[in-house]
Amino acid sequence: MLGSRKHNHIIETPDTGKWQLAGYEASLPLTEKSNPITKEIDKADPLQIVHLLKLCDAEIFQEEGETVINYQRLYSESVLQTLIDVAKKMEDILKDPEHSLVVLSGCGTSGRLAYLLVTSFNRLLKGLQKKHNYDYIIAGGDKALLTSQEAPEDNPYLGAEELEKVCAGKKQVLFIGISCGLSAPFIAGQLDFCMNNLNVFTPVLVGFNPTNMARNEIIEGWHLTFYQVAERMQELQKNYRAFILNPAVGPEAITGSSRMKAGSATKIMLEILFLAAHRAAFSNKEITANGILDCLQAYERVHKVTYSQSKKISVLVNQVGESLQKGGHVYYIGWQTLGVMGIIDASECPPTFGADVGDVRGFINNGYKEMDNKEGNIASLGPEFCIAHDDFVRNILPHVNDNDTVLFLFTLDDDLSEIDKLATQISANTSNLHAVAHSTAGHYVPENVKKSFASIISITWPIVFSEYEGCFVQKLQRELCTKWILNIISTGGHILKGKIYYNYMMDLKVSNTKLFRRALAILQRVTGQSRLRCQEALLQAIYDTDELTDPIRTSEVTKHTQMASTKNQVVPTAVVILARNCSLTEARSRLDAHPTMREAIEACLRATGRKRTADQIAAGIHGEND
Ligand code: F6P
Repeated sequence: MLGSRKHNHIIETPDTGKWQLAGYEASLPLTEKSNPITKEIDKADPLQIVHLLKLCDAEIFQEEGETVINYQRLYSESVLQTLIDVAKKMEDILKDPEHSLVVLSGCGTSGRLAYLLVTSFNRLLKGLQKKHNYDYIIAGGDKALLTSQEAPEDNPYLGAEELEKVCAGKKQVLFIGISCGLSAPFIAGQLDFCMNNLNVFTPVLVGFNPTNMARNEIIEGWHLTFYQVAERMQELQKNYRAFILNPAVGPEAITGSSRMKAGSATKIMLEILFLAAHRAAFSNKEITANGILDCLQAYERVHKVTYSQSKKISVLVNQVGESLQKGGHVYYIGWQTLGVMGIIDASECPPTFGADVGDVRGFINNGYKEMDNKEGNIASLGPEFCIAHDDFVRNILPHVNDNDTVLFLFTLDDDLSEIDKLATQISANTSNLHAVAHSTAGHYVPENVKKSFASIISITWPIVFSEYEGCFVQKLQRELCTKWILNIISTGGHILKGKIYYNYMMDLKVSNTKLFRRALAILQRVTGQSRLRCQEALLQAIYDTDELTDPIRTSEVTKHTQMASTKNQVVPTAVVILARNCSLTEARSRLDAHPTMREAIEACLRATGRKRTADQIAAGIHGEND
């Protein structure tokens, strides 16, 4: 199993895979390629699902191969050096809080992770009696922390405007723009703004494609592509005026689902960076490659700790799958930042799986007070923004039954009597109450708390003897572990519900240009038809019509995505139209005639003689004008 390795590792990583070969899905960037490891994940049982995700996540820590394309990886010297260079810039900023700022920005999960890191590290500074030094921006504002808001992601002007506002009056700003796919116009606008104001800004781009795979598509109403922005940054990096942190972590387990590996790698890489800068600024510890390598190893240990619970996690996957199949719900009830992890996981289910906002939801103790987000309490925006435990008890609990799964997320340092009280209350309505409980060696969930839960995944961490910072690092690791567990159960549950075909998110929301392109790529792959024909079928499904007019055909993509954001089952409908060469009405009734979307699609493709082989699917990718 071991590839060539220069460094000491805690876990085994898979052999270099097909995706590292030059011709593999050549028209797609790494973050949009399909991962050969998971190509049959839609047919896997819960235990196999967990195993496949374990292998995929292990690729994050794989080292650069020697015989295949030279993708730089997390452990590559070039990446370690950039981490050191950026940490040194950050150290200077931390030492001058009056005039300087670190800003993290992202869209979707990238923006949610920006928020999480910023609030966590500001709390760390507060604990050290230091001034706040970090700020975050998320496309779509704080409501995007809880629900998916894809449209603002397409607007480079909005990104730049928000950044200018946040940095008003600052003399030095380290700006970190996260776009896992090197693709979001919102981030491109911000990076461009920074590069036009280098007297104040040092821009850093974080993503997981090589720069030559940055999105090179015209951005509506703007003069640059993301690729051109990244190219300019690359030039500036030669003089340390800008930086790009873009190790490859391999394709996502569910194609394009950057909330998964890319999200985890964002968290790992930025935490390593922030910790190194903090230690340098406040404890006089030099920023070295060895220090960074030690941190990386600690994160590998989190992978090991998490997946040592594979069996128990698979039981939960099965449970969540059953709930979703029966039309039930999944509720994460978390404490402190573990509550945030639940909210983050839940927020991506609608755009990824075409889930309803109520299907998977997260709740946190003390609601917005605990969230500490910039816009404060936004519960008035609608029921999906009511996120406190009290809201759950008041609005949701009366309707909870055995079809639902409720999952508590806590540590033994949280208020156990409050946990016990809430668990007792919920267990009166459902026998499907489970928990992920983090403890330190020698500490166990008390029997009286245990009694309400049908199962507990108990994660034990070493006792930290070193002070405040050691506990803080462990908190970050518990978050990552929880993220992995939640990603597995929400992805696994939706796989069991039939929302995934091969490893493609078939029922994605087509709500921005990136997702429109992804939808087209999926249609081409599964039907093998031309791009033009796939686009026609996609537009038919979006505009609810069998007759496409010229104004529809010639509209901008953002018009299509606006329209699509209110529609259901857009991509599955288009697949059936293409496979059966049928009308919209017939496509919809064929979808309805099967218990799951995956079975419907499989039946339609089988009827056209398109056999289920992964190679055939891979051969379905055609060029732009095909
Ligand atoms: O467009 C929605 C989305 O795909 C989210 O699912 C994801 O978290 C976000 O975009 C971020 O994408 P990126 O980091 O590649 O810009």
